[in-house]
Amino acid sequence: MLRDVPLPLSPKQIASVVESQDAPIALWSGAVSSGKTIASLLAFLIRLTVAPDHGLIVIVGRTLQTIERNLLDPLQSSHLFGPLARHVHHTTGSTTAVILGRTVHLVGASDARAEGRIRGATIALAYVDEATLLPHSFWMMLLSRLRVGAESRLLATTNPDGPFHWLRKDFILRGAEVGLTNWHFTLDDNPTLDPGFVARLKAQYIGLWYKRFILGEWCLASGAVYDMFDEDRHVVDLLPYMRRWTAVGIDYGTVNPFSAVLIGQGEDNHLYAVSEYRHDSKTALRQLTDAQYSAGVRQWLASVRRPGEQGAARGVRPEWIFVDPSAASFMNQLWTERVPGIAPAVNDVLDGIRSVSVALGSGLLRVHRSCTGLLGELPGYAWDEKAAERGEDRPLKMDDHSADALRYALHSTAHEWRGLIDYEEVAA
Ligand SMILES: Nc1ncnc2c1ncn2[C@@H]1O[C@H](COP(=O)(O)OP(=O)(O)OP(=O)(O)O)[C@@H](O)[C@H]1O
Ligand SMILES: [Mg+2]
Repeated sequence: MLRDVPLPLSPKQIASVVESQDAPIALWSGAVSSGKTIASLLAFLIRLTVAPDHGLIVIVGRTLQTIERNLLDPLQSSHLFGPLARHVHHTTGSTTAVILGRTVHLVGASDARAEGRIRGATIALAYVDEATLLPHSFWMMLLSRLRVGAESRLLATTNPDGPFHWLRKDFILRGAEVGLTNWHFTLDDNPTLDPGFVARLKAQYIGLWYKRFILGEWCLASGAVYDMFDEDRHVVDLLPYMRRWTAVGIDYGTVNPFSAVLIGQGEDNHLYAVSEYRHDSKTALRQLTDAQYSAGVRQWLASVRRPGEQGAARGVRPEWIFVDPSAASFMNQLWTERVPGIAPAVNDVLDGIRSVSVALGSGLLRVHRSCTGLLGELPGYAWDEKAAERGEDRPLKMDDHSADALRYALHSTAHEWRGLIDYEEVAA
């Protein structure tokens, strides 16, 4: 079967395909785009031809859509799998596929009902995409269903997570005991990556994500979250003319500081944190009402100097104002006052931190020196190491108010600015 495949496989890919045939649990782990999926799919196709007739064959991913995109699309590509690709049949949206004549059940692990489909079943062969993202309970259940004797197999791929993640602690480190063989892939194990693509990849994974997704390390979320932040590189005294006033992010607080950060897109195509508004009820010795905060934000925006314009031009109208989604009453206040562009911020903390990291790490984002609240917080914003030791990645909830406001503004608009990153400049 290996002979049918037109790919020039790397030595690591070949070794993993061959050796995995004897491993009860085979894991391909490591860097993004390092060739794990291609090698493991090939191993899966080979196992499929020898899988016992009784027992289900399942492919598990986060959702049906990720299974289709990450696995079925490549399987159906003749460029990758040659004539074998013609024997992969699937209709988009269907929860089964027919591969080399066998019915394969497609199970999205984030769908609670899907779990029911395999709960009582006997499984002969399972393939798991992005294993660390599976609920632990789902993985354990899957293992308990694999019981067609010595012939049953579990094949899985994953990018690294924290060192205390259950997959590493209970499986990879105890490989011999639990019957797991792990192949660790780095970018060099993909024979096809060109240097320009690698440079773009590296710009998309910064900080913690660089260590995990590019270097392939099971690295602890510790120390500074924005360890790529560098005052010399990121803080500016002069601002260019702003092409767009992209967004304001607002982190709401009554006891904690209320923080807002204004982002503009300069004519040099960099993003700038131009100005900030902060009210700290502890130092001001008084709390403000929602109406007072709203008035404060509007006054602030009306007074912001517009750089690069004739005279002392003041006042900006941001395209969006993204508000801490938990601040429902404040958002209502803004809506009642018909402040334009109000929307709840996208509040996925880790994805948001990654967006800010990319904006900083690529040099796209700069911060004006007047944003003292933000500049005071960025260097000290740190990962919660206690949580990391429990296998959970999250920042410490301390002095994170302007940092959150920045995250809301940037992450909620990430689709708009991602294209501005100059990868040539990053690679240089
Ligand atoms: N031997 C090969 N020959 C040709 N193309 C390959 C080969 N190995 C991998 N590729 C291609 O390189 C890209 C990355 O490979 P693959 O999807 O296997 O990486 P991965 O390690 O699974 O990455 P991720 O962690 O992002 O899922 C894909 O476009 C794939 O088609
Ligand atoms: Mg993959």
